[in-house]
Amino acid sequence: MGVLDILKQSNGLPAKYKNLTELEMVARIQTIKEKLGEELYLPGHHYQKDEVIQFADDTGDSLKLAQLSAENAQAKYIVFCGVHFMAETADILSSEEQIVVLPDMRAGCSMADMADIYQTEKAWKILQDAFGDTILPLTYVNSTASIKSFVGKNGGATVTSSNAKAMVDWALEQKERILFLPDQHLGRNTAHNLGIPLEQMAVWDPIANELEYDGPWEDVRIILWKGHCSVHEKFTLENIAQVREEMPGVKVLVHPECTFEVVQASDENGSTKKIIDTIESAPAGSSWAIGTEMNLVNRLIQTHPDKNIVSLNPNMCPCLTMNRIDLPHLLWALESIVEGNVINQIKVDAETAHFAKVALERMLEKSI
Ligand code: 13P
Ligand code: SF4
Repeated sequence: MGVLDILKQSNGLPAKYKNLTELEMVARIQTIKEKLGEELYLPGHHYQKDEVIQFADDTGDSLKLAQLSAENAQAKYIVFCGVHFMAETADILSSEEQIVVLPDMRAGCSMADMADIYQTEKAWKILQDAFGDTILPLTYVNSTASIKSFVGKNGGATVTSSNAKAMVDWALEQKERILFLPDQHLGRNTAHNLGIPLEQMAVWDPIANELEYDGPWEDVRIILWKGHCSVHEKFTLENIAQVREEMPGVKVLVHPECTFEVVQASDENGSTKKIIDTIESAPAGSSWAIGTEMNLVNRLIQTHPDKNIVSLNPNMCPCLTMNRIDLPHLLWALESIVEGNVINQIKVDAETAHFAKVALERMLEKSI
């Protein structure tokens, strides 16, 4: 589902939630959490705001939250504090009886919107005609359920930033080539990390419907979908040069959704979990410039006052769609459950869910 569909579907926040004090919302959310007990499960992605994270039963990166959704059998309601594709994943991996709710339907992901199923089917036909049956599709979990389903149906799997290397490695054992959707940067950084030269990577442009590649097509091993994260693309080589000048000895640590040039110029890169673990085990007094979403960077700054931590881009904004989940929407979602009139349920249709689950399970069984 694209952003426009979501907006059309979105039933807005009722006026009664618009002027409540923070204190009142916090108290009402706490009361509902106590009342629902184990009937309610509230996972929160690391990029969520502190006001929401304080209520999370578990926090995690996209891999951990997918694993926890698959394991959780007791909760009747899963109120997902993250973005739309994560709630879809929770719905696909949970049981038929469990109800998944996204507190604000406008919490989408601009990267996931960069590949729709019609574009993907069109691209697949052209690529199959050109390369024959030599391609395995892989999709970053930051994609719609329909794309996951397409990938599952065609023998492929999902990946997250935590397991992308292992999954690309696995995919290249199955077929000569891979189509990597929808984040070209994660795909390029991961394949390069596995020793595949840039000269063997082509880019599929879904708007022009063409392959961007200069060499002979038989040399292509990785076909990168031309999508990106608008948050992580904002970290630049100039930011790295500036922070190295201003903070001598600083280590630059970035998410692999950043561009190839930025990842190459950094000292370390890795998933949200790797970023957190690296900072946790860093010595007191060490200096870090972090290239990822601002809510997480600010949380790391607050929880590690003994380390010098800055955002790699001093003018960075948080991910706007992640930020749509806030106290009023969380309270609205929880009260709708208590009142027996559940709002914003995420339900993937059974046919789509079947093969999307196949793609997710292929990944989960290879991830610890
Ligand atoms: P991870 O949680 O896999 O690190 O991904 C970051 C992200 O962009 C989620 O939207
Ligand atoms: Fe999507 Fe980027 Fe926001 Fe993650 S940070 S939800 S990839 S727009």
